[in-house]
Amino acid sequence: MTAPIRKAVFPVAGLGTRFLPATRAMPKEMLTVVDKPLIQHVVDEARAGGIEHFIFVTGRNKGVIEDHFDKQIELEQTLKERGKQAELDMLTASLPSPGQTSFTRQQEPLGLGHAVWCARDLVGDEPFALLLPDVLVQSSGKGCLAQLQEEYKRSGGNVIAVEEVPDDATHRYGIADIERGAGASHAVKGMVEKPVPGAAPSNLIIMGRYLLQPEIFGILEGQQRGAGGEIQITDAMITLLASQKFTAVEYEGKSFDCGSKIGFLAANIAFALEREDLRDALLEEIAKLT
Ligand code: G1P
Repeated sequence: MTAPIRKAVFPVAGLGTRFLPATRAMPKEMLTVVDKPLIQHVVDEARAGGIEHFIFVTGRNKGVIEDHFDKQIELEQTLKERGKQAELDMLTASLPSPGQTSFTRQQEPLGLGHAVWCARDLVGDEPFALLLPDVLVQSSGKGCLAQLQEEYKRSGGNVIAVEEVPDDATHRYGIADIERGAGASHAVKGMVEKPVPGAAPSNLIIMGRYLLQPEIFGILEGQQRGAGGEIQITDAMITLLASQKFTAVEYEGKSFDCGSKIGFLAANIAFALEREDLRDALLEEIAKLT
């Protein structure tokens, strides 16, 4: 049996131009879905999926992400003095332990593949998880990364989460071509990054959660620019597929593309509706609007 993967990489260097002016001084990963920044939702999913070390590939103006995952001594002191134990417990529960976070910088915006490559020394020679913080996943049972870890324990190799989208959306994503299995796990035959409309080999997008073997770093080292003139992780995975197994998992849950305004707004509503303290009041407010 393969041991679960312990380290995760979070590429958080993106400029967030689609959310200007909100992101003029604030990283897009700190935009709030209900009452947690996007990045914390994704880190929580990773922790629930067995991750013990969180590696952030940041860029200029992203310092607040590092602060967010640090202990806030003055704040904790004030909460204690005011008897706000619930808030204090919540802060403590979501704080990584000392030494569980690492930060490095992607100095230039050369693409997702390049961002992952920047984490090579921090990951070292072991398999790792990659979670794109623009994508939030809501699932009724286990989180998406936990579901990938289960598949990894069964089949090893590389594992990616995939999800069906309509035909007219495939050109915006990486697409997996699969050999359909009996259940929700399928062998990957091929992949393509942002195929031109009508040319996608399937409707299954590479959704934004990956478990990858460290050999990907050697490939990324020499990776040429691909779609959009950027160094793409999908292109490096295509090379790795020639020598290693990739399994695509149609995970249980629903993803929200929080890199788009509609996806972000929908995520806020969906995540609020699953909260008992907010659901009824929010439904009432929505009813008043329509
Ligand atoms: C990236 C990946 C793509 C994946 C997508 C998921 O694209 O390159 O393969 O399908 O994330 O959101 P981006 O959204 O950075 O253009």
